[in-house]
Amino acid sequence: MATEETLVLVKPDGVARGLTGEILARIERKGYALVDMRLVEPDRERLERHYAEHEGKPFYEPLLDFMMSGPSVAIRLAGNRVIEGFRSLAGTTDPTGAAPGTIRGDFGRDWGLAVQQNLVHGSDSTESAARELGIWFD
Ligand code: TYD
Ligand code: MG
Repeated sequence: MATEETLVLVKPDGVARGLTGEILARIERKGYALVDMRLVEPDRERLERHYAEHEGKPFYEPLLDFMMSGPSVAIRLAGNRVIEGFRSLAGTTDPTGAAPGTIRGDFGRDWGLAVQQNLVHGSDSTESAARELGIWFD
């Protein structure tokens, strides 16, 4: 057993398209526990902290603009190996290539340039999860 916590975000495209319930249903069906959840309109400072590893990359500024385009749902999620498990539910970063059956594969639209509109975020390691949960939950 390795019960963990991870940060999940339903990003602005997921909230705006009314997919929050669908995404939550998949999370609940998998058996993960919702520990905390809130609707957040992040300011730039919060997003700079969240995406610090990507600062300077070509997609960084468009990504921050997109993440400020509307509210996200932040979820503190718990479960056995939930960090890896949620990323498996989410699918690969680029929705164009994400497998059917995953959130990004089933709902991610092929926008061409807009890889950032991939519906969800999930922490990628225990260190990232601890850091990111501290950014989105007080
Ligand atoms: P990344 O951490 O690599 O992906 P993931 O969300 O799967 O952990 O990138 C963070 C976000 O940045 C990603 O969800 C979408 C955006 N992004 C782009 O817009 N273009 C890119 O080429 C990459 C790699 C990411
Ligand atoms: Mg990442």
